[in-house]
Amino acid sequence: PRENGWITPDFTFFQGFWCVSTLIQPIITFQKQFQAKDSDILVATLPKSGTTWLKALTFAITNRQRFSPLEDHHPLLKSNSHELVPFLEINFYGQTLDGIPQFDMSKMTEPRIFGTHIPFNSLAKSIKDSKCKIIYICRNPFDTFVSQWIFLNKIKPEELPEFTLEEAFERYCKGVTEYGPTWDHMLGYLKESVARPNKVLFLKYEDLKEDVNFHVKRIFEFLGVPFTQEEESGEVVENIIKLCSFEKMKDLEVNKSGTLGLNFEKKYFFRKAEIGDWVNYLSPSMVEKLSKIMEEKLSGSGLSFRSD
Ligand code: A3P
Repeated sequence: PRENGWITPDFTFFQGFWCVSTLIQPIITFQKQFQAKDSDILVATLPKSGTTWLKALTFAITNRQRFSPLEDHHPLLKSNSHELVPFLEINFYGQTLDGIPQFDMSKMTEPRIFGTHIPFNSLAKSIKDSKCKIIYICRNPFDTFVSQWIFLNKIKPEELPEFTLEEAFERYCKGVTEYGPTWDHMLGYLKESVARPNKVLFLKYEDLKEDVNFHVKRIFEFLGVPFTQEEESGEVVENIIKLCSFEKMKDLEVNKSGTLGLNFEKKYFFRKAEIGDWVNYLSPSMVEKLSKIMEEKLSGSGLSFRSD
């Protein structure tokens, strides 16, 4: 099935998820051609779930021997984290997408870090078969939905009308959202993280906000880059956390100006970064409806979200 889209030309239901139609071919090429290396790291997310943050943290952790988080010339001070950790399906295989900068995989240093929004089942086989690692982050769907809706209205071409909250919400509840349904995306990665905990680390945005120190240490351990003795006694974790914090990143010149494609102004990736901002947008009936859907879709999975 197809759904007439609004900001993007349209969505097609493809391999069990709603895909921006222009991304189908790039994803098929990726599935056929991508050769994962055992040292690769994938940062997998749904849009507006903490991608920018997790990309920054993963880059800073992985490269901490090359670039101290205290360094004045740290790449995260000079580039947006989406430029340092590009999306597989968009920046490497999405040649058809006008205005999106393309990256050359052969120029990447190891370990290569890639971003992706593709659901687990549709990842290239070599990713599943190799020893490469996947870090997944998801976020309370209430906040993810509101963040997505606001973002879409910011990047829309001026001549198009506003995407109403009601319209966006109906589509979200039907699962018609980029790479959605949301619940299927989360459950796909959750299932794999339970089956193969060394392969997939499953994180929640709210947990990171609550205790980022604990979860950054989990990422270190999961990636098999435990602290050196010197780091253990030093403040490397704290410095990485500060470098990647919302407050620090949003005020950097590199994140305040410029775009990541034609319409994706970098500043739009930094809004409020709060838990529970949805209370300012969703009506009681919307909350009831989405709560019921989540209860039903996530039942028995053990997955739940704080919603304060
Ligand atoms: P809000 O719109 O709720 O503020 P993504 O990076 O997946 O596109 O998600 C964007 C959301 O993450 C936005 O949420 C944004 O403000 C928040 N965000 C961006 N950078 C962050 C950071 N360094 N730490 C925490 N949240 C961040």
